[in-house]
Amino acid sequence: MGSLYTVVLILTLPYLIPASLSNDSNNMACQLDISHFEGVTVPGDVSIGFLYPLHLTGENLDVTFTERPTKISCTAFYFHSFWSFQATMFAIEEINDDPNILPNVSLGLQAYDTCNMLHLNVKATLQILTGLNMAIPGYRCLLDSPLSAILGPSLSTQSMTIAHILGLNRLPQISWWSTSPLLSNRKRFPSFFRTVPSDRFQSSGIAQMVKYFGWSWIGLVASDNDYGQQGIQLIGQEIVKAGACVEFSETILMSKPDRNAPHIVNVIKRSTAKAVVLFCSDVDMALVLDEWLIQNISKKILIASESWSTVNLLFFEKYSEILIGTIGLALTSGILPNFEEYLNKITPSMSVSQQWVKLLWENAFKCTFSSTLNSTTTLKTPEKECTGTEKLSNVHNVYNTDTLISSYNVYIAVRALAKALDDLGKCSSGDISAPSFVCAKGWNFKPWQLLYFLKKVRIRRSNGREFYFDENGDPPAAYDIVNWQLNLKGGIRQAKVGSYDTTAPSGEFFTINKSAIMWSIKDYQV
Ligand SMILES: *[C@@H]1O[C@H](CO)[C@@H](O)[C@H](O)[C@H]1NC(C)=O
Ligand SMILES: *[C@@H]1O[C@H](CO)[C@@H](O)[C@H](O)[C@H]1NC(C)=O
Ligand SMILES: *[C@@H]1O[C@H](CO)[C@@H](O)[C@H](O)[C@H]1NC(C)=O
Ligand SMILES: *[C@@H]1O[C@H](CO)[C@@H](O)[C@H](O)[C@H]1NC(C)=O
Repeated sequence: MGSLYTVVLILTLPYLIPASLSNDSNNMACQLDISHFEGVTVPGDVSIGFLYPLHLTGENLDVTFTERPTKISCTAFYFHSFWSFQATMFAIEEINDDPNILPNVSLGLQAYDTCNMLHLNVKATLQILTGLNMAIPGYRCLLDSPLSAILGPSLSTQSMTIAHILGLNRLPQISWWSTSPLLSNRKRFPSFFRTVPSDRFQSSGIAQMVKYFGWSWIGLVASDNDYGQQGIQLIGQEIVKAGACVEFSETILMSKPDRNAPHIVNVIKRSTAKAVVLFCSDVDMALVLDEWLIQNISKKILIASESWSTVNLLFFEKYSEILIGTIGLALTSGILPNFEEYLNKITPSMSVSQQWVKLLWENAFKCTFSSTLNSTTTLKTPEKECTGTEKLSNVHNVYNTDTLISSYNVYIAVRALAKALDDLGKCSSGDISAPSFVCAKGWNFKPWQLLYFLKKVRIRRSNGREFYFDENGDPPAAYDIVNWQLNLKGGIRQAKVGSYDTTAPSGEFFTINKSAIMWSIKDYQV
């Protein structure tokens, strides 16, 4: 594969080379204002780009125009994301160690924490395309490490922006997070794939459930973003198709301090609908549940969308009286043998992604590393110094069902990509037959050549069912049906009571074990 990680500068085109890269800055026609945005790089023969929100928000400081904009400070460390990153590293190491897939080729990674901000996602994408920690639009500077695909980002709206950029060159993008139905549009997003099903399937799954339980009047509540509004619109249509009626449809207004909660809860209170669909995220619905506790509402059955059906229960304990009996769809997970051992081996002395592991440590153990005392922004008041020998396995609830789902979905994304690369390699060596124009010389492939193989990829999930992308880049839709039940200690637990799986043999798409369900409404039987 030649020498790895050599930075190859395209010196034949001096006009376009940024001044800082050139020895002779006199003949510069243009200059790039390079501000630093650092990620984590793992060298490899073929590279994978990775965008994810290790922090949930970044602070957009006021721009004064009198000084260079300062570095964005990111807050709200998101544990959930950290495990997705580790699952990616786990998958890459597993593939690199496995002689049966991509023999003699190592996968590498170029990853960025984009703090859930669109402009950081765009910037990181351009840097990944260039291959360096700087963005030179249209140029690939790491010729010895071709870019295979970009995994991420998280929010559907941001995935769309990135998909527009990557679609120009047909560079594959695989999301393990974005569920908006709009992303299934192949004309707009020709190289977008995902390992989570589109909400279109979720809506018909929920409608099936409504039909199954014979509820004739349904209330709908959704947040005022794409996720909520598109979801609720599809559910409304599907519910009507299934023969039931929508009694009300209310919106959680994120821009209002009270989120419109008093009005929404009042509507629910006056309604006769026995079941209410809540199509929003856990964060969006907190104020609605607070208001619910204040107003005296007779029991309702809540139907959960996938974004809150398996969330961390600690946060929800105070609402347990409302939430017991909730039934909802959850993304299915799978088994990742050896992943937990892999996680338990993580320490801050690891050389790869050390800065992120240290952030995890500081947030999990509420301590500070002396080396970061000066620059850390995540902790306002450092409680104690981290030793680095703390045990991750002792941290309660750091790793739960919800994190396992996204870990599995990103793992599948890396696996599918590796299989496509493997097929591409076999095509060049003549081991499999494919149209000659999609076969590359060695690893000097074009994005659309890899795209051909990704579209055809088939791998097996841990439950034995096949995983593939349909003509729109969507995976087969599979959900668990979960029910929130009282556990023996008086807390809540999320129990699997059935599944909605379009890859199941026909007639078994929708299976539910009625006797396993615990309802909140006493004497409520189906
Ligand atoms: C991998 O490399 C080894 C040693 O260089 C060689 O013997 C083997 O044929 C290579 N395998 C493939 C599939 O290229
Ligand atoms: C709450 O509602 C129930 C039945 O709807 C009623 O019996 C009870 O008195 C109400 N409690 C309050 C405090 O209004
Ligand atoms: C922390 O800040 C102090 C004073 O500004 C400086 O002397 C020291 O070198 C810094 N330490 C690190 C690890 O950056
Ligand atoms: C259905 O649930 C009941 C109660 O949890 C359990 O005893 C039974 O084995 C389940 N049936 C199937 C087919 O899983």
